Amino acid sequence: MNTQLKLRVAEKKAIAEGIVLLELISCDGADLPAFTAGSHLQIELPGGHSRAYSLCNDPAERHRYQLAVNLDAASRGGSRAVHEAIHAGDTVEAREPNNLFALEESAPHSVLFAGGIGITPMLSMVRRLQALGSRWELHYSTRSASRCAFLDELTTGELAKQSRLYFDDGARLDIRKALAATQEGTHLYVCGPAGFIDAVLGAAKNLGWSEERLHSERFSAHPVEASGNQAFKLVLERSGLTLDVPADRSVMSVLLEAGIDLPFSCEQGVCGTCITDVLEGRPDHRDQCLDEGMRQQCFTPCCSRSLDGLLRIDL
Ligand code: FES
Repeated sequence: MNTQLKLRVAEKKAIAEGIVLLELISCDGADLPAFTAGSHLQIELPGGHSRAYSLCNDPAERHRYQLAVNLDAASRGGSRAVHEAIHAGDTVEAREPNNLFALEESAPHSVLFAGGIGITPMLSMVRRLQALGSRWELHYSTRSASRCAFLDELTTGELAKQSRLYFDDGARLDIRKALAATQEGTHLYVCGPAGFIDAVLGAAKNLGWSEERLHSERFSAHPVEASGNQAFKLVLERSGLTLDVPADRSVMSVLLEAGIDLPFSCEQGVCGTCITDVLEGRPDHRDQCLDEGMRQQCFTPCCSRSLDGLLRIDL
């Protein structure tokens, strides 16, 4: 069960153009629940928005969580609430950190690609890899130095030697060249805008990288073709309800209308907040956060559907 946390905003500061860093601590001074590199924190924001943001501090730290949030021009309210309605001293509620972008810590070498604010999970990952004494290299691409979060950490100090920074208005990232320099068994991690992720994964696949060595985390989903959607029956095992999911409605909207309290955030199959166990039936998975193992057991009701006429779920 995921515990609800009450956190205090200890600090909020601008760290690059359009990007603020939040430092969150426990309200009672106790240690925070531990997290692993690549984890995200689901926080409740003013205005009723619930959003998941990657933790960017060292996973060894128990006294704070750090999040860096970019003000998204197309914000649906989340990043704007962080920038404009949250202040140092405020209290926010959050769920315990969750990880859908975990490091393969036994890999002999890791190569990490970050585009823009996609640097956030990478920063906790490279801190972890550094602590393990592992071999790693980071390729971080932003529009300009002024929009580059964590510029100091990545250009001076212990992380600088393995970090390469690229700016659209200067030296640009050559993905194929960066990949060509890696070695057998290297695992690849990429986070950033969809086009950036697709370019990195596409280049790796063209070079023969196997799927199990490729790891990505998206901020938003690919558009999904919905014209072939079929209606189906949804059985809620614990609630004892059977609901009709019409072809033009999501499972999530049907659940919410029926008064089922299910946490959600991105509504695009990206964040993993709504993951629910499947007891019977074959889900039509449309998420971008579950791996094949998880897809055998659960689905994301915000975007996924059923391949058959009936789906029984653990709600
Ligand atoms: Fe984000 Fe469903 S709400 S995956």
